[in-house]
Amino acid sequence: MSANATPIPNAGASGASGHISDGRVAMKGVDISHKGILYLDSISVSFDGFKALNDLNLVVDAGELRCVIGPNGAGKTTMMDVITGKTRPDTGSAFFGQSIDLTRLSEPEIADRGIGRKFQKPTVFTDHTVFENLELARKADKRVWPTLTARLDSAARDRILTILDTIKLTAEAGRPAGLLSHGQKQWLEIGMLLMQEPQLLLLDEPVAGMTDDETMRSAELFESLAGEYTLVVVEHDMDFVARIADRVTVLHEGHVLAEGSMQQVQENEQVIEVFLGR
Ligand SMILES: Nc1ncnc2c1ncn2[C@@H]1O[C@H](COP(=O)(O)OP(=O)(O)OP(=O)(O)O)[C@@H](O)[C@H]1O
Ligand SMILES: [Mg+2]
Repeated sequence: MSANATPIPNAGASGASGHISDGRVAMKGVDISHKGILYLDSISVSFDGFKALNDLNLVVDAGELRCVIGPNGAGKTTMMDVITGKTRPDTGSAFFGQSIDLTRLSEPEIADRGIGRKFQKPTVFTDHTVFENLELARKADKRVWPTLTARLDSAARDRILTILDTIKLTAEAGRPAGLLSHGQKQWLEIGMLLMQEPQLLLLDEPVAGMTDDETMRSAELFESLAGEYTLVVVEHDMDFVARIADRVTVLHEGHVLAEGSMQQVQENEQVIEVFLGR
């Protein structure tokens, strides 16, 4: 189905997995028939001769909650830059599902296909309420909402209410986003990403700067999103990673050093060497 598909009136389903949902268009689906939703194969990226990514291989299954860890400069953010089209790899391939070649798409096209990215600093509209922020995130989808004066239909409203509940900000819906705590702003921004109905969410250090309580609530949030969405989370907070990760990938010098359960990577000799050697 193409991006210009006719809107299907109030189809009713509320899932965010790229199918028909709450009266919006049926999105181009990503082909996850082989389970994998993200395939990075032999990716290398050099900056002035320095290899930020060096033969990086990564496969993430649909619905997984994958954590990526590694020392500063390991290439974690660069990896996200490659997935989102911000940086082009020198060599290697990057596929979203079986057939979407990410190296051939622009950043907006990649976002449109269903990859949402959250940077570390929250970028919410501080003068607007929490509810309006979510509404604006939806209207930013020009394909579906050609004008900013489009009326919010009840399906759209329901979706916002569902997301408010998911991100635990229902009680804050009418407050200006500028008055939220740092953690709440981060959740709101995740909610804004969810409004775009992504299938893969990339989160770079999402709990940095959060209180312990906010970090714990974030863990609950991410666990609730996994399954319906695929999450790739880069994080330095190891307690957080241990709590949430299905699988952990350890990056070092632009290459995968180890992969497995948190326990498996923690027992890996090379991982111990790299982390203790910091
Ligand atoms: N645009 C760029 N130009 C030059 N060098 C870059 C660029 N982007 C990243 N690098 C370098 O590539 C390496 C990997 O950087 P990257 O930001 O991906 O690491 P990271 O794993 O995200 O680290 P951190 O945990 O500190 O966020 C670093 O040595 C960095 O200085
Ligand atoms: Mg980084």
